[in-house]
Amino acid sequence: MAIKWDESWNTNIAVIDQQHRKLLNLVNDLSDAMRVGKSKDVMADVLTVLVNYTKTHFSAEERLMTQAKYDDLAGHKKEHDGFVEKINSYAEKVKAGSSAVSIEMMSFLSSWIIQHIKGTDMKYVPALQAKRS
Ligand SMILES: [Fe+2]
Ligand SMILES: [Fe+2]
Repeated sequence: MAIKWDESWNTNIAVIDQQHRKLLNLVNDLSDAMRVGKSKDVMADVLTVLVNYTKTHFSAEERLMTQAKYDDLAGHKKEHDGFVEKINSYAEKVKAGSSAVSIEMMSFLSSWIIQHIKGTDMKYVPALQAKRS
């Protein structure tokens, strides 16, 4: 179920597109690890890398939106925060061994990220591009 980058997901803001690709690569890594049946500790580590990179990306995006005085920063940040909360709790459960990385978890992660890129992220593109020109 590896995700292949779709060109329609490009924002044409280089730093963002690069981070989105990396994020989806990390989702693919998690999916690969699950598929080959890696141990709980390895799964927890791979998931932690994904959680940390997600936070890095969200902060970078929020910084750019702040600089561009994007008017829906608050709503956008709320989506980010909700997702971080969810993946943090997944990571905790996987670490504790009370839950394993499942197909359901993987499909939630990948569809949330893709929908967020296609929907919410795309909305800031005009504001961020205007700032650059
Ligand atoms: Fe994003
Ligand atoms: Fe975002």
